[in-house]
Amino acid sequence: MTPTRPLALRPDAAGIDQAASLLASGALVAFPTETVYGLGADARNGEAVAAIYAAKGRPSFNPLIVHLPSTDAARDLVHWSDTADRLAQAFWPGPLTLVLPLRADHGLSGLVTAGLPTVALRVPAQPSAQTLLRAFGGPVAAPSANPSGRISATTAAHVMAGLGHKLAAVLDDGPCTVGLESTIIGLDGAPTLLRAGGLPPEAIEAALGGPLDQSTTPVAITAPGQLASHYAPRAPLRMNVTTVEPGELLLGFGHTRADLNLSERGDLHEAAANLFEMLHRLDAMDQPIAVAPIPDHGLGRAINDRLARAAAPRD
Ligand code: TXA
Ligand code: MG
Repeated sequence: MTPTRPLALRPDAAGIDQAASLLASGALVAFPTETVYGLGADARNGEAVAAIYAAKGRPSFNPLIVHLPSTDAARDLVHWSDTADRLAQAFWPGPLTLVLPLRADHGLSGLVTAGLPTVALRVPAQPSAQTLLRAFGGPVAAPSANPSGRISATTAAHVMAGLGHKLAAVLDDGPCTVGLESTIIGLDGAPTLLRAGGLPPEAIEAALGGPLDQSTTPVAITAPGQLASHYAPRAPLRMNVTTVEPGELLLGFGHTRADLNLSERGDLHEAAANLFEMLHRLDAMDQPIAVAPIPDHGLGRAINDRLARAAAPRD
């Protein structure tokens, strides 16, 4: 049974214990990571995972990321590789997701992977996410804690507003520091960028000592269920805007007059951390949104990817 009002849990020992017990009972618990808030369920429990899809209104072909406390826990689920090891040593815990071939004895619900022979794994760095994953002691399936297709949640208030009545609890540990979803790398062949995100592709190439296949992002989308329209506010959004039309709200970048500014000093990390919070605030005003040009390197790649999806034609 899903309560109509979710518990708001504090990130102290009692709150995290309660969150872990709720996960163990098959309930949905939203929790913070350094990227965005996740909508978590026990990844071995098919009914709990089904409740994630129902709560988000997510197409069931879109597989979920499995969250783990450590690289050792990841190795138990997949066919590990030297490349996976190099990336995990460099970036876990952190805003990186690795897609690897599943082992036969993985124990995950088939709904988590939507029937694929691979699984997406992530070890988040956020301290209360780490403590929760250790307290729970199992794999936690968690998509971003927003209704399917809408703006991601970077605060507990966003989670409550979008999904509140569908959850058992939200663990509130303030705003997410990175603010963009994890970067997803496919390792089911040559390393491939499946989704730009909170870890810049340049950093991954440096750790690999070689190139990353980036041909599939952001235009052609191969990650299953990467819908063209996503991260969408209710009103239309245009990007790379240099001339604002009457009635539009301007989301700026750099030293410029704007309704809201992602980063007045032109810092892409600050812009990433502000992106979804500012989109939520502009969305509440329900007017067309114009976004200033964002440089397309480093975290700008992921910011432009999210904006392109927010601007994409709707159904
Ligand atoms: O930062 C994040 O990654 C957040 C936090 C909560 O960890 N999670 C997140 O999950 O963004 P979600 O479900 O919103 O996005 C997961 C993406 C989807 O686009 C899905 O298609 C892709 O990961 N994915 C999952 N499993 C995959 C697989 N086996 N192969 C390719 N793509 C996969
Ligand atoms: Mg998402």
